[in-house]
Amino acid sequence: MLDFVEERRPDVVVISGDLTLRARPEQFREARAFVDRIPVPVVVVPGNHDVPLFRFWERAFAPFAAYRRHFAAELEPVYRDDGLCIVGINTAYNWTHKSGRITRRRLREVGELLAAVPDGVFKVVVAHHHLIPPPNFGTQSVLANAREAIDLFSTVGVDLILSGHHHQAFIGNSEEFYPQGRPPVVIVHSGTTTSDRGRAGERERNSCNWIALDDRSMVVSHYRWHEEGGRFAEHSRHWYPRQERVPYTLDGLDGPPR
Ligand SMILES: [Fe+2]
Repeated sequence: MLDFVEERRPDVVVISGDLTLRARPEQFREARAFVDRIPVPVVVVPGNHDVPLFRFWERAFAPFAAYRRHFAAELEPVYRDDGLCIVGINTAYNWTHKSGRITRRRLREVGELLAAVPDGVFKVVVAHHHLIPPPNFGTQSVLANAREAIDLFSTVGVDLILSGHHHQAFIGNSEEFYPQGRPPVVIVHSGTTTSDRGRAGERERNSCNWIALDDRSMVVSHYRWHEEGGRFAEHSRHWYPRQERVPYTLDGLDGPPR
């Protein structure tokens, strides 16, 4: 992975969590040491495994204390440059079961932040948990408030949603699952890049996504690790036009959750 990044020098690397298995200090320190070797800006959000499962006091009262102390103080980082805005959302919490959540308060904050980003800037949201169900996985449950989140993200002109959690890469869009007749928001789900916990077709396979932007399009390439060649090789490539955006408003977001 480090060689891949070193050779290609992306503008930014996004890591959509779980950094650890059991949220132990030494696991966070190891993750920190790894991220520190990435020679470009990195946006990281925590996952459910980054909350202690068995250290009950910590889990109840300070679920992100170890993350903050040993990995990063910021749980919801924001990255901006001239053409790109990436907003991290922490979807893990102390009683996270499997699907995570986004609070309505955080949704409103993110909505206001993204609505203020100028037109033409590519807007990305990163959340560990998935907003659409994965194919071939059994459970179809998704993040709590997924529908509200998708409504908001499509309203404020989010172009892309990135997530992790399922150890299986897949790509979909908001209109397939929450049809509203609006321009679809592309949803790219990452497989597992560095663990041995790949699922379904990615069992024992590591993968990552390479996302390239220009003024008119976004190309998502899915890379899989090839043991024989000792490198990540492109497995599939997906092309999307960049959307023309219509004016938006945040007025509808004050209503009760659906
Ligand atoms: Fe997870």
